[in-house]
Amino acid sequence: MSIFDSALMFGDMAFEFTRTFGHKPFRLKEHLERLYASMKILRIDPGMTLEAMTTITHDVIERTAKGLDPNIDLQILHEVSRGILGPYKRAIDNERDANGPTVVIGAYPMDLHLAGFAPLYEEGLRAVIPPQRAIPAHLIDPKMKTRSRQHYQMANMQAAHVDPKAWAVLIDGDGFIAEGTGANVFVVVDGVLCTPERRNILRGVSRGVIFDLAARLGIDCLERNLEAYDIYNADEAFFTSTPFCIAGITHLDGLPIGSGTPGPIVKRLRDAWSELVGVDIAAQARWCANYVAAQG
Ligand SMILES: Cc1ncc(COP(=O)(O)O)c(C=O)c1O
Repeated sequence: MSIFDSALMFGDMAFEFTRTFGHKPFRLKEHLERLYASMKILRIDPGMTLEAMTTITHDVIERTAKGLDPNIDLQILHEVSRGILGPYKRAIDNERDANGPTVVIGAYPMDLHLAGFAPLYEEGLRAVIPPQRAIPAHLIDPKMKTRSRQHYQMANMQAAHVDPKAWAVLIDGDGFIAEGTGANVFVVVDGVLCTPERRNILRGVSRGVIFDLAARLGIDCLERNLEAYDIYNADEAFFTSTPFCIAGITHLDGLPIGSGTPGPIVKRLRDAWSELVGVDIAAQARWCANYVAAQG
């Protein structure tokens, strides 16, 4: 990639992170539809249709998965920027490289990622609310998945300063819970799931999976404004995101949520997810943790 690429200069890049289960992409259509929605608003033309990108993605997955242990799934990255900025085009010898978008379609084994998730499933994770706020949709719309992520990184650093292992939960300008820095948030109260409205968040594909699984399991699922108070006093809370699917939040700002351990509904939802994709999500993470340890 050129050092003059708009992605590097402005963080001006739409992207998606999709994963496989059993080397088959999961909800690729939803991820690519969100990518094309982000690109539309950013006015980036990738120079290829969604169908063409799907075909290339399948090819990249097939090549990367060749010879790979079936327990090691793949991360698929789609990243598209508008390319080299106008004033710098002269500095580039190759006319083809100087004009048009930068399109990345990549895949790589997730063994290290998955190994790192093993403790999340067993012990859950701690979260804190850092001073950094979510950026509201009227400033930069978080429904677009872009590489302009400085505020997420600030939030991560502030959370780590309080508790090195804690994950950040962002609140928006009105004091409502928005999302994590790479995950959506849910609480469980009296057997009902609640998650923030769609206003100031990335509308996660995994969040959508939880709606589907909840319907299948007969669990009600509501979108409504949540405050920190609602998480402190919930029976359970959890994050959802493509790489790890679902992970229980056991503490917020040092206060235990419910029993202070991953709760029964989180486990039920993870089991239902495992059934949906034909991969035992927690067992796969444990396998990868052992595999990575054996590799040294
Ligand atoms: C800010 C943010 N919110 C939520 C999510 C979860 O989205 P998904 O479930 O589509 O991975 C992500 C994923 O990276 C994210 O970056």
